[in-house]
Amino acid sequence: MSYPFERNRILRKSSSIREAMAETHLSTSHLLLPVFIIPGENEVSEITSMPGVFRYTLDRVNAFLQEAYDNGIRQVLLFAQVEEHLKDNAGTEALNPNGLMQQGIRHIKSAFLDMVVMTDVALDPCSSYGHDGIVVDGTIVNDETLEILCAMALSHVEAGADWVAPSDMMDGRIGSLRECLNDHGYHEIGILAYTAKYASNLYGPFRDALDSAPGFGDKKTYQMDFRNAKEALREARQDVEEGADFIMVKPGGMYLDVIRDLATHFDVPVAAYQVSGEYSMISSACANGFLDRKAVVMESLYAIRRAGASLIATYFAVEASKYIQNK
Ligand code: PBG
Repeated sequence: MSYPFERNRILRKSSSIREAMAETHLSTSHLLLPVFIIPGENEVSEITSMPGVFRYTLDRVNAFLQEAYDNGIRQVLLFAQVEEHLKDNAGTEALNPNGLMQQGIRHIKSAFLDMVVMTDVALDPCSSYGHDGIVVDGTIVNDETLEILCAMALSHVEAGADWVAPSDMMDGRIGSLRECLNDHGYHEIGILAYTAKYASNLYGPFRDALDSAPGFGDKKTYQMDFRNAKEALREARQDVEEGADFIMVKPGGMYLDVIRDLATHFDVPVAAYQVSGEYSMISSACANGFLDRKAVVMESLYAIRRAGASLIATYFAVEASKYIQNK
């Protein structure tokens, strides 16, 4: 039976009916706010390729976090910039109990008691090669890297992190991290696995923000080929078996099929990362007056929710939380 007996426009007739029929909902609790911290004092610097997104020294970050908190944001994903002279090929600074990341975790956890702090675990910000793992003869070596990642995650947890978010794409990292956390008595720490992290061309602005671009080559030997979707299922199966609490797809908007695949096939929640390049594309088109910023930001986030993501890491988090409240 179809037209004229079925008329789909009946369910679209008024805004009240459309609200009642909406299949997808977005609230501030679905948003994860990435936060960039930088060494030094009294500095707030805008990221050139991400207008409207700033990096903060620890003494200046509270006003930004307070604004996020007051708008309902309770989850942050923390990134720390590492000074050039502290970078090496061993991840030494990543393990420093008084490193900027560790200080940042303590700072946020003491100022905002119920803020969930998640930390990026990968070597790139502190690697002299800008790679996510240890480099030997031009290769990013897997198993040696796992040991450092575990020590890095442990030092974040010791500083107070609630969740660790391994973004390195080494094989076996989730199992290694879980075992290491268990061995040290950390049974309530979450692992947000960057499960299907693609070797995307959309990370450029982020690498500007942290000054972490790879010094040679690219990340295609560990991040996924963007032509593949089945491979994401394999990554997800392994991550879930190894103990991931959340499985993430990254980037978000161009990978909605992958988000949907993981949400369909697995019973752990799926997250998505709307990455720096997605922010830059939307915000620059809007700055030119080509698109309506509020409308497009919300559409981009709803689309990711519709695909099946429970949590969205997004640089629009604070802005979107205001739109959600009609502010
Ligand atoms: C670190 C990391 C990256 C991003 C998140 N964690 C960069 C990369 O893998 O090169 C990118 C996030 C973004 O572009 O917003 N491994």
